[in-house]
Amino acid sequence: MAKITASVFTSHVPAIGAAMDLGKTQEDYWKPLFAGYDFSKQWMKDNKPDVIFLVFNDHATAFSLDMIPTFAIGTAAEYTPADEGFGPRPVPKVKGHPDLASHIAHSVIQQDFDLTIVNKMDVDHGLTVPLSLMCGEKDPVKDSWPCPVIPFAVNVVQYPVPSGQRCFNLGKAIRKAVESYDKDLNVHIWGTGGMSHQLQGARAGLINRAWDNAWLDQMIADPAACAATPHIDYVREAGSEGIELVMWLIARGAMSDVPYNDKDATDLIAARAHSVSVKHRFYHVPASNTAVGHLILENN
Ligand code: DHB
Ligand code: FE
Repeated sequence: MAKITASVFTSHVPAIGAAMDLGKTQEDYWKPLFAGYDFSKQWMKDNKPDVIFLVFNDHATAFSLDMIPTFAIGTAAEYTPADEGFGPRPVPKVKGHPDLASHIAHSVIQQDFDLTIVNKMDVDHGLTVPLSLMCGEKDPVKDSWPCPVIPFAVNVVQYPVPSGQRCFNLGKAIRKAVESYDKDLNVHIWGTGGMSHQLQGARAGLINRAWDNAWLDQMIADPAACAATPHIDYVREAGSEGIELVMWLIARGAMSDVPYNDKDATDLIAARAHSVSVKHRFYHVPASNTAVGHLILENN
């Protein structure tokens, strides 16, 4: 059977991708940020997954005001890095996993989450920057990413956006879906975006270190309580783009210490038998306009 063994959480600032693509990672401004991912690149090599289920948000690149899916699962065989205005990033194309993606779509929709199925989609910095941070520089032609990726896009750009609670519950459904796939696959689930940042308006440039770190503490130790954080708290405390953090709750909800159903004694007992280990935690300001947070959790 397929199994989720670990979750990875990271911010996705586009300037990080540009710093890597332009060979600036050792400049004074960027060096401390990239140092925070040295452990992670080695961890990826030592713990290579068969598939990454990558929760991210599109920034009006693949989607637009013409069509705004709340949750969209990529079922394609391949995804091309998007042109975001300065040309597409020079990184490899992203190979998909249509068979597992279709299985997850079927299972999650039958668990009452209405997903949009996407058979063709370009992927922007929301997806490519986390891959670059975790896997290092890659030649667009000679190299490839370490494994297939299932992109899962969440609308956190155009209101109304989904709540943290709904994202957390969706994570539980995704775990159930993965665990019912009949091939032995080691799956990692990634939650990306965040942490505090606001890109426009009177509060542009907002960073809230204390709130970010308290949120991280709670997301690790008591994810069900963290999932109850109301939408408006993210916007007030972490800025308008801080709402990207709800995507982390999808990945956290898919870890095995979280019961599928709090009212079911069997699920509660099963979840209590599990714990997660924090393999790596990193927080850094500044990176463009955004506070960068990063976490690796493993299922025990
Ligand atoms: C920045 C951060 C984002 O999350 C994004 O999508 C675009 C820009 C920034 O900090 O510059
Ligand atoms: Fe963003």
